Amino acid sequence: MSLKKKLIAPSILSADFGRLADEIAEVDQGGCDWIHVDVMDGHFVPNLTIGPPVIRWIRKATRLPLDVHLMIEEPIRYIGDFREAGSDWMTIHVEACQDVSGTLKEIKSRGAKAGISIRPKTDVAALEPYLSSVDLILVMTVEPGFGGQVFMPEMLDKVRSLRSKFSGYISIDGGINVETARQAAQAGADVFVAGSAIFKERNRKAYLNKLRDAIS
Ligand code: DX5
Ligand code: ZN
Repeated sequence: MSLKKKLIAPSILSADFGRLADEIAEVDQGGCDWIHVDVMDGHFVPNLTIGPPVIRWIRKATRLPLDVHLMIEEPIRYIGDFREAGSDWMTIHVEACQDVSGTLKEIKSRGAKAGISIRPKTDVAALEPYLSSVDLILVMTVEPGFGGQVFMPEMLDKVRSLRSKFSGYISIDGGINVETARQAAQAGADVFVAGSAIFKERNRKAYLNKLRDAIS
């Protein structure tokens, strides 16, 4: 059982990028805890999003921690750039790095918190060697690459098994809404990343309140 405060991290992937600062201000004022930023390179996942120059502007739009999810091959090449742009947390994929330990060390040496993630087909055993070197584990509950997909409930077994041996943050990402967040909270997750469920709502604050009730 984790006694940490449960955190809500809206994923801006489903926000209106033409009004990004306003979109972030709305969820910030609506009471969310972190801002989740999905970085995609068109190699590790079949989609392209944003990089350090945009993160630099997001950094100016909020004081909330920036939770940067790096869905890119060999992220070690860009850790310095993402850190300088204002990333507080950086989560890499175990499948995307030749030297996972070296990449985690690089994140920490830059003064950021380090996270590691697995895609749905990757077994939790792949994380075993790194449990003591990460601050956060992100369990993907959809195939990474796109917002608006359907939650895979069978991934909650990964959360349960990790909860028994990992005391850091367990984050859950993909298809999170009021219903699936409740299930993930029961399984032991601490951080709830939600994109489309929040940004498709007209009243983001009201939805954030509903999410908060569901996970507490
Ligand atoms: C998917 C991303 C997610 C995505 C979640 O690859 O990692 O953060 O934005 O979007 P929803 O909440 O719509 O599934
Ligand atoms: Zn994400």
